[in-house]
Amino acid sequence: MSEWHVIGARPLRGSVRVQGSKNAVLPVIAASLLTPNETVLTNCPALSDVDAAVDILRYLGCTAEQREGEVHINTAAPERWDIPPELTHRMRSSVIFLGPMLARFGRARVSLPGGCELGARPIDLHLRALRCLGAEIEELSDGVLCRARELRGAEIPLTLPSVGATENAMIAACAARGETVIYNAAREPEIETLQGYLCLLGADISGAGSPVIRVKGFSPKDHAVLTVPPDRIATATYLCCAVCAGGELELRGVRPRELRPVLSVLRCMGCDLTEGESSLRLRAPERPRPAGAVITRPYPGFPTDAAPLLMAACLRTGGSSVFMENIFDCRFRHAEEMRRLGADISLRGPVAVVNGVERLRGARLRSPDLRGGAALVAAALGAEGETIIEDPGHIPRGYQALEESLRALGAEVWRI
Ligand code: EPZ
Repeated sequence: MSEWHVIGARPLRGSVRVQGSKNAVLPVIAASLLTPNETVLTNCPALSDVDAAVDILRYLGCTAEQREGEVHINTAAPERWDIPPELTHRMRSSVIFLGPMLARFGRARVSLPGGCELGARPIDLHLRALRCLGAEIEELSDGVLCRARELRGAEIPLTLPSVGATENAMIAACAARGETVIYNAAREPEIETLQGYLCLLGADISGAGSPVIRVKGFSPKDHAVLTVPPDRIATATYLCCAVCAGGELELRGVRPRELRPVLSVLRCMGCDLTEGESSLRLRAPERPRPAGAVITRPYPGFPTDAAPLLMAACLRTGGSSVFMENIFDCRFRHAEEMRRLGADISLRGPVAVVNGVERLRGARLRSPDLRGGAALVAAALGAEGETIIEDPGHIPRGYQALEESLRALGAEVWRI
């Protein structure tokens, strides 16, 4: 458990280079099992989720060296094909190793922790996709056991554009004989990064970013060097911190085009936003206007992961903002904590109504999950006095040196 201490009501000023993307690098680390050669990742973020994914590779018998922003992976001689509970409990999304292990070893066993802070995290779409490719899957009480003598290309219609199920299908399809077509595929930028990596390995794959992805089986030989793209949710996080605290901020090494829905809401709130090729400058208004209606949807809709951060930015606006969550069952667990700061938030199922208040006052809070925890830090930046946030380890899963970056921008933030 760590404690974040924030002394609020100090404007942010300065420039930050945003970290590499957690949700882009995790599936690539898993997919590195496809090749018996080396994969080098640069601009890799220092996150506990990345440590957990690399530890899974090491447990399987691969080698992986991490040193300042780079990870050198060698998957020449894996010895295991199972992932035990102590490793899957550290990383929620370890289901992403199912497809790669099935592709490499023809079998896989992953013990799954079931739900998480965001509610039930079913994997039915992952399993259906792998069954389409010819896998035999036994659902055990504590996980799944998969076998596939041979994977065969297939048509995979996803009933939901699940990011993880799309990624598992893409990776497993690389080892399938013949062509696979994935319909209703997720369109997130992380899918395009994964496609880019699989192409570096020699895959014949196209369509990422569109609802239809085509993959032809291949036997990977080459080794790959991939630069991890910037984290679009970390980018949204820093922007919302600046709205909460006031001031102005420059973000470097970012991709504004991946944040269209977030940027347009921030402009509606009165933020002065300037976009460069790989930079963003935000000047916060004295008092932001309300956000209006924020409805989360699969990409390219408003990203569910940015909703808690935007809610923090709405707490002291001059009106009401309405949030509608369409992706996860328990996305609003941070709302209860924000009320302790004096926020006026009412919840009705998937809908949260935020009525802006004049001022927020520091309080003792508890981080409920990764993005909710970051949202509490953002909200605390706009609260008078000191806020203490108890965090059981959620925030470091997805943010690299968040406290150092905020301190460099003039915030009074430290972590015990
Ligand atoms: C990825 O999770 C991200 N995680 C999440 O980010 C992100 O919120 C989510 O995509 C949506 O964008 C990683 O990339 C590691 P989904 P994933 O499968 O793949 C339902 C963060 O904070 N579903 O697209 O698990 C599911 O319940 C994390 O960085 C099924 O019903 O998300 C949810 O309602 C949080 N059956 C919806 O689909 C399945 O088999 C979207 O889930 C799979 C998913």
